[in-house]
Amino acid sequence: MDWGLKNRLSRIIKPETGRTVMLAVDHGYFLGPTSGLEVIADTVQPLLQHADSLMLTRGALRTSVPPDFDIPIVLRVSGGTSILHEDLSNEDITTSMDEAIKLNASAVAISIFVGSAHEKETLTNLARLVTEGEACGIPVLAVTAVGREMTRDKKYLSLCCRIAAELGAHFVKTYYCDDFAEVVGTCPVPIVIAGGKKISEKDALKLAHNAISNGAVGVDMGRNIFQSDHPVGMIKAVRAIVHENVKVEEAYKLYRKSG
Ligand code: 5RP
Repeated sequence: MDWGLKNRLSRIIKPETGRTVMLAVDHGYFLGPTSGLEVIADTVQPLLQHADSLMLTRGALRTSVPPDFDIPIVLRVSGGTSILHEDLSNEDITTSMDEAIKLNASAVAISIFVGSAHEKETLTNLARLVTEGEACGIPVLAVTAVGREMTRDKKYLSLCCRIAAELGAHFVKTYYCDDFAEVVGTCPVPIVIAGGKKISEKDALKLAHNAISNGAVGVDMGRNIFQSDHPVGMIKAVRAIVHENVKVEEAYKLYRKSG
């Protein structure tokens, strides 16, 4: 890994704790104006100061994030399907590395769909993106998207994470599952977890705590933050778990206090 790539990665995974709280607001790339993200700027702006990085598309970035706000950007660069389509795996790369550089991205993110109809294209797209990213010092986050027909268990998620790492991803976003330590243990690059569909705040904090306790370096959480009744309280509580190792009850109190 060259200096620039390591430098960008260390803007996201904080060297002080070796951990990260990434805020994911990229959902519109296939879900449109999903609940909580109808007006991206309104949702994102109060949360920016509490996030270690922001994951989103180029369109959301240009229109909804002030360019003078210093936050590392993880640019989603895959897409091409919508929720109306049966098969969400038919994604392609939607921007270029030149554009990622122009937008001062600290990393780029691409989904892979292991076991789905377009598995091969999404995996070779990842490999190509890694080659291009390494040529200009930009790390690649592989997102292990789970097709409707797949089960989010240790066997499947270990397979996805390991393939992503073997193809060169510099870090991987996946889902939490039982025996998560084994997913982490067999993946040679750092793992962050997605929050998934909105669940209760307490359960989402438990999820973050379990993931961290089992070796994740952080979260890349979206809906469980921005769809919360108190998104700022929620991100502060998640931060306390990720960076300060606080217990779930204590984090939950923090969430309630900020509400
Ligand atoms: C889809 C994604 C999402 O767009 C998003 O980043 C997921 O975040 P969350 O599950 O926490 O809402 O990565 O594969």
